[in-house]
Amino acid sequence: MTAAYDSATTKSFYNTWGANEWDRLESSLENQINYRIHKAMLAEFVGPGDAVLEAGAGPGRFTIELARAGAQVTVCDLSDVQLGINREKVAEAGLTDRVTGWHQADIVDLSRFPSGAYDAVVCVGSVLSCVLDRVPEALAEIVRVTRPGGVVIVSVTSRHGYLRAGLAPILRLAGAGQLAAIDSAVTSGDIVGINAGTELLTTHFFTWAELRDALTAAGCEIAAVSASNFLSAESADLDPALLADPEVMEAFVRWELEACRAPGAVDGGTHIIAVARRLAG
Ligand SMILES: C[S@@+](CC[C@H](N)C(=O)[O-])C[C@H]1O[C@@H](n2cnc3c(N)ncnc32)[C@H](O)[C@@H]1O
Repeated sequence: MTAAYDSATTKSFYNTWGANEWDRLESSLENQINYRIHKAMLAEFVGPGDAVLEAGAGPGRFTIELARAGAQVTVCDLSDVQLGINREKVAEAGLTDRVTGWHQADIVDLSRFPSGAYDAVVCVGSVLSCVLDRVPEALAEIVRVTRPGGVVIVSVTSRHGYLRAGLAPILRLAGAGQLAAIDSAVTSGDIVGINAGTELLTTHFFTWAELRDALTAAGCEIAAVSASNFLSAESADLDPALLADPEVMEAFVRWELEACRAPGAVDGGTHIIAVARRLAG
């Protein structure tokens, strides 16, 4: 990871992006399945009474899930706009009493939160992808505030999976004079200097080996890993009508959840979700 993290740019991007972030996980069938896969992982590792720090919580889709699961959630995000939406959505869901507070904080500096205070730290939706060269510091902070034996649940954008899912448009850009920038992104994982016609935040797309090594270097052992999504990632044939029957949908989600955890699939979805347990000492 070589690109330098700039918190002001990231904050401004997510302040402007605003409520679009709430809509994202419902915006397509693929995103709805991505949401289901994340929820399944959270349900497996977070339970009633757990103290959870949700870092980069955004508008609160997962805050609400964690609160519904009976956890006591502390919310933090870099963006004041996202924090405001989070507070509103949690209130609309009637779960305000399950959130201990909303804090504007950067994952590279969680110094306002005490060491070892949380049973789980949840940092999903490519928040780590945003901090570029500061990933080691961010993970050190996330692990510091997790109690020994507690879990860190992260999800990041996948380098090879995203390349696979977005192959045609990516090759189109490469063939239209942007080969050097695309080649550099594929080689380094840093998405920088690409003109895709919309504003692209500079972020890092991970391989599983990179994420695994960063988590173990931060003092954790891997408890679980999954792609998200694998079967349904940008599948040209995936017409929502094919999954309109709820029974077919449920069976499909079951197949997807199993496929995403297959060793050959972990680098093949648009995201990688990892659960890492903080080692004692
Ligand atoms: C793609 S959204 C994901 C939100 C939520 N975790 C989810 O998955 O629905 C990324 C969020 O991370 C926040 N963020 C980005 N960089 C951050 C940082 N360095 N520290 C804290 N939050 C950050 C953004 O403001 C935004 O709300």
